[in-house]
Amino acid sequence: MHRFVPYYCFMVLALGLFNSSSAQLTETEKLLAEMATVQGNDHLLKAAVMAGKDRALLCGNCHGKTGNSVRDYIPNLASQNAAYLFNQFELFANGERKDYVMSRLAKNLTRADRVNIALYFSQMPVQARPQPVPMSTKGEDIYNSLCFTCHQKDGHGNGSYPRIAGQPYEYLDKTLQGFAGGNIKRKNSPMAVIVANMNSQQLKDVAAYVASMP
Ligand code: HEC
Ligand code: HEC
Repeated sequence: MHRFVPYYCFMVLALGLFNSSSAQLTETEKLLAEMATVQGNDHLLKAAVMAGKDRALLCGNCHGKTGNSVRDYIPNLASQNAAYLFNQFELFANGERKDYVMSRLAKNLTRADRVNIALYFSQMPVQARPQPVPMSTKGEDIYNSLCFTCHQKDGHGNGSYPRIAGQPYEYLDKTLQGFAGGNIKRKNSPMAVIVANMNSQQLKDVAAYVASMP
């Protein structure tokens, strides 16, 4: 049975049993619609998560087996929104987002892998871990005026708006400074405009607040 699951899941996706009626949808939109259908069906979700777990073995070396990363410069994938994860695989693979390791890995993931791995990590719980986060009261004010509309009050995001709550401070700071500094590793990101008028200290303040969110 265990060996049967990934194959079954791939068949479901490959045959496009879901939402295949609308021919004008792009390939990505179709896969996202299929993923949403799987998310809404307990049986299919379980099968996809098991298939994803199998395919995510290698990812565990850096992101942790359950998506709780092993280094502070590496993002957690646990409880991340599945649509966001799926989109990032696309961006790494097509070169819009660049990272030495991820750009190579993403190109080798099949369509089914992308859906199943995204669903697997989205279902894993985040484990808070102690990390050096500078204290700041200003970060919360910045968050509540500039960030909550997309990332939500609790920082959990929604759909393609990523969960940022509880990401390691080092990753958040590095990523925000990157968005502010010309954004060469993440082209066309809406984040560039948002942080354009913030200085480095303000980015550190908000990163510290976000890292401390549960
Ligand atoms: C050698 C270490 C390493 C391995 C192995 C690895 N990753 Fe990554 N991954 C990273 C790093 C570092 C980043 C952050 C890149 C950046 O700063 O933009 C990242 C970023 C990501 C992101 C973007 C997350 C976000 O919050 O934006 C996703 C999704 C991802 N990895 C998925 C995977 C998957 C799936 C695998 C296995 C197939 C994998 N990674 C294997 C190091 C790794
Ligand atoms: C208009 C909507 C919007 C607002 C407002 C917004 N963001 Fe974002 N943010 C996004 C989107 C969409 C992404 C994912 C796309 C990308 O990679 O750029 C993102 C990505 C991020 C990431 C990278 C997440 C990861 O896992 O790599 C961080 C960190 C972040 N935002 C922090 C913030 C902070 C802090 C603020 C407030 C100062 C903020 N965002 C305001 C839409 C928004």
